[in-house]
Amino acid sequence: MAFVSDELLNEISMANDIVDYASSFMQLKKSGRSYMACCPFHNEKTPSFHINRDKQLFHCFGCGASGNFIQLVMRLEGLDFQDAVRQMAERAGITIPENGARQSTELTRRKERIIEMNKFAARFFYDTLIDADKGRAGREYFSARKLSKKTIIKFGLGYAPDSAGSLTDFLKSKGYTAEQIVEAGLAVTRNGGVIDKFRGRVMFPIINARGKVIGFGGRILGSDKLPDGRRLAKYLNSPETPVFDKGSNLFALNIAKSSNEKDIILCEGYMDVITVHQAGISNCVATLGTAITENQAKLMLRYGNEILICYDMDEAGTKAALRAIDVIASVGGKSRVIRITGAKDPDEFITKYGVSGFRSAIDKAMPSTEFRISLIKRSYDLNDTDGKIKFVEEAAKVFAGLSDPVEVEAYIKSTAADTGISEQSIFGKYKEIKGRTYRPSSMRTKEEFKRRELNRINSGKPPEERVTNTVLEAEKRLLSLMSKSRRLCRKASGIMKPEEFSDDVYVKLARIMYEKTEAGEQLEAASVINEFSGDRRAENAAGAVFFNREEYSDEEKTLYDLIYTIKLSKLEAKIKAANDPREIGELLKQKSSLARERGEWSGKI
Ligand code: CTP
Ligand code: MN
Repeated sequence: MAFVSDELLNEISMANDIVDYASSFMQLKKSGRSYMACCPFHNEKTPSFHINRDKQLFHCFGCGASGNFIQLVMRLEGLDFQDAVRQMAERAGITIPENGARQSTELTRRKERIIEMNKFAARFFYDTLIDADKGRAGREYFSARKLSKKTIIKFGLGYAPDSAGSLTDFLKSKGYTAEQIVEAGLAVTRNGGVIDKFRGRVMFPIINARGKVIGFGGRILGSDKLPDGRRLAKYLNSPETPVFDKGSNLFALNIAKSSNEKDIILCEGYMDVITVHQAGISNCVATLGTAITENQAKLMLRYGNEILICYDMDEAGTKAALRAIDVIASVGGKSRVIRITGAKDPDEFITKYGVSGFRSAIDKAMPSTEFRISLIKRSYDLNDTDGKIKFVEEAAKVFAGLSDPVEVEAYIKSTAADTGISEQSIFGKYKEIKGRTYRPSSMRTKEEFKRRELNRINSGKPPEERVTNTVLEAEKRLLSLMSKSRRLCRKASGIMKPEEFSDDVYVKLARIMYEKTEAGEQLEAASVINEFSGDRRAENAAGAVFFNREEYSDEEKTLYDLIYTIKLSKLEAKIKAANDPREIGELLKQKSSLARERGEWSGKI
């Protein structure tokens, strides 16, 4: 049983606008009736990703990604079908009925329960913070860190009292069991009992892009250094739970995602992020106590053109910045490095130099390649011949990893100027290293994409059944035409059987179209494409059919032309593969009768 009815699904789709939705993920430009952007699913510099608002479909002419609104939500947010639909319902303020119609899995129920408990906990921590007595220590801490009341509210900061079970008791009073509270990471088992996980700490709720509290970070009130030299755990974070994946979320993304700035600033610490926001800069996020992952880089690149890395200036921070640059580059992103000289972290920098100081540091952010070269330069003595040679060698390694030839040339020029070594020699070094390094290409060209499709369809088939690109294109255009009207679909159904299409997706599409036409039903692109949900390739192929916007002066003639081309090419492939003269004779006969039949199709007009 479907978890929502077709009518409700339709209502949910209609209540949302694909252009509105997509515009929070990419820079859309209007062009005629369609909207264009650089494709979020492959690496490109000129836009080939199109959105059709009327049909609520998307299609990339570069990599072939295609589908309906729900499938776009699934891909952009990494959700399954149900969660994507749920999220769209939520956006539109539509409630999905809980009664039997909804088959929520055990896992979904657990996730929802944890989210609910987190929300209660966040409320509890905030209420404790503002409580005259219980929250005093927390308030004093935040005020010493110069956080305003407004900032505290904006981030939903709170305080966990220094007691064994106040949150646990509170959650129990709301009906949750000790086991559930532990599962949510809000309590831990200790000596056979259960105690609050966060005690005597100021609390930072971690909220995902959809506005749900998925976990917490809690900071001790004082310094983490003990007089005897030992160190306390300054921060304690929620453990990984079914809703809290540290590598796929970012602190403050819920706020930064609606910023108007074009880039995203990445800091190391919660306090850094909060101070930056308090200074009026709203595009700042942080990782969650772990090193940056590819998922996090991709997430940031959805909301910003470039990532401005703003880590501590110490050795650890510099190392972490280098790693961040690599991770961001590995997912096709660009980064720059904000240098906060004169302070240990962004928080301290803003306190010392104010917003204007920070803004000018942002403006001066160094392109990541320049940053890497400057670090290498620092570790060699350029007055020394040996130092120069080693520097050029290391720098050339960095250049070999760049994809933009203009960038390579510019850096080679400046390295030549720095060292007095000729550009040709440095270029030679670069070529030598580049030849050695294997670079998996993230760029898939349209041609490559088509070739793969063709290979996939033809693999394992005997030569007489293999199709060419021409045939495949013709089949796609034929289906596009059929999707335009029931009249055209009926015409095709009389002469072209579903099994005559080469691709399994096309076969299924033809069946659905014929059936709907037969039953006198409307052919709704978005709902037909839903039949392919979950299989990316099938979604792409089906989406592309409906996205096709070619206009023909004579649609009916085009329909017959296409069918003729398909049938003829298939016959010719068979003729070419045949050896037996009798078989060839038979096929040639079929070929001439096909030409005759064609006249009869048109005669039916
Ligand atoms: N962190 C952590 N556990 C620790 C120390 C740090 O999880 N024991 C994580 C936290 O996410 C923290 C980030 O690493 O925000 C950066 O650490 P740090 O720069 O020390 O923290 P700040 O947020 O700058 O905190 P503060 O200024 O209060 O020291
Ligand atoms: Mn700090």
